[in-house]
Amino acid sequence: MKILLLGKNGQVGWELQRSLAPLGQLVALDHDGAPGLSGDFAHPESLAATVRSVAPDLIVNAAAHTAVDKAESEPEFARALNALAPFVLAREAAACGALLVHYSTDYVFDGSGSAPRDEDAPTGPLSVYGATKLEGEELIRASGCRHLIFRTSWVYAARGGNFARTMLRLAAERDRLTVINDQHGAPTGAELLADVTAHAARLTLANPALAGTYHLVAGGETTWYDYARHVIEFARARGVPIQVAADAIQPVPTSAFPTPAQRPANSRLATHKLQAAFGLVLPPWQQGVERMLNEIL
Ligand SMILES: NC(=O)c1ccc[n+]([C@@H]2O[C@H](COP(=O)([O-])OP(=O)(O)OC[C@H]3O[C@@H](n4cnc5c(N)ncnc54)[C@H](OP(=O)(O)O)[C@@H]3O)[C@@H](O)[C@H]2O)c1
Repeated sequence: MKILLLGKNGQVGWELQRSLAPLGQLVALDHDGAPGLSGDFAHPESLAATVRSVAPDLIVNAAAHTAVDKAESEPEFARALNALAPFVLAREAAACGALLVHYSTDYVFDGSGSAPRDEDAPTGPLSVYGATKLEGEELIRASGCRHLIFRTSWVYAARGGNFARTMLRLAAERDRLTVINDQHGAPTGAELLADVTAHAARLTLANPALAGTYHLVAGGETTWYDYARHVIEFARARGVPIQVAADAIQPVPTSAFPTPAQRPANSRLATHKLQAAFGLVLPPWQQGVERMLNEIL
């Protein structure tokens, strides 16, 4: 089997290089591409020749415009990366019969209410990022290609910067810390996303009826405040020098940190469809976060 992976150096792309490798012959590209192969989503049509040249059975798209605030001031660029380029991949996947795996986000929803949303809940993005990711989903579905779209949330990885690292740095430097406590979701590890992707893609290649849109997040839920506390207290218990006292970590509303893009308050995603379809269990979010902390501390 031939596999084409786009966005190989992102949080999820990096882990996909590991999890997809045993499934077949892997051609993995970043935006610089490889000799004769474009991986540049800023030029969506250039990706068509890449797909034709590789002739993959499976295309996995981990590239995206993920700078949520920056997207507000460059909507056309975000649209090229999040909607138009995925559409070219989808069109080419339909033409060559490949399965396309793509990632989307809780930001396609408006974040109202407090219940977890399932896959067919009404969408209503609050930001350019969310709107362009939703358009990407819709274009993929309209293309007629076999696809898996995984909506996920609050992605982290041990490699590179992440929320936990930022909290640990601030907790080591400061006496007081304020963290948002009115956004609810599940931190989801890039490792988990990559491992589930490999399982689900393999099963869907064998049984195309499994194709579709799925919510894929770690188990349980938290807020950024409780997530930060979990990270800081885990590090403190491990003997990491932490300056901030436990009672000096203060919960604040989202309005305390104004940003160009509005975030959904309720990012809870229901995952029973994915767990039932693929026979998988999504572990509690603390499990992956503690594993990541053990790697970085
Ligand atoms: N991060 C989250 O919290 C989150 C939440 C929900 C859903 N998602 C979705 O999950 C997927 C993976 O996200 P991630 O966290 O792994 O993102 P990431 O770490 O920001 O990686 C994005 C990838 O896109 C690549 N990219 C940027 N501009 C490009 C261009 N012009 N052409 C080709 N590639 C380009 C980046 O390459 P360079 O680094 O080389 O520029 C990087 O490899 C995305 O679809 C994202 O929308 C993420």
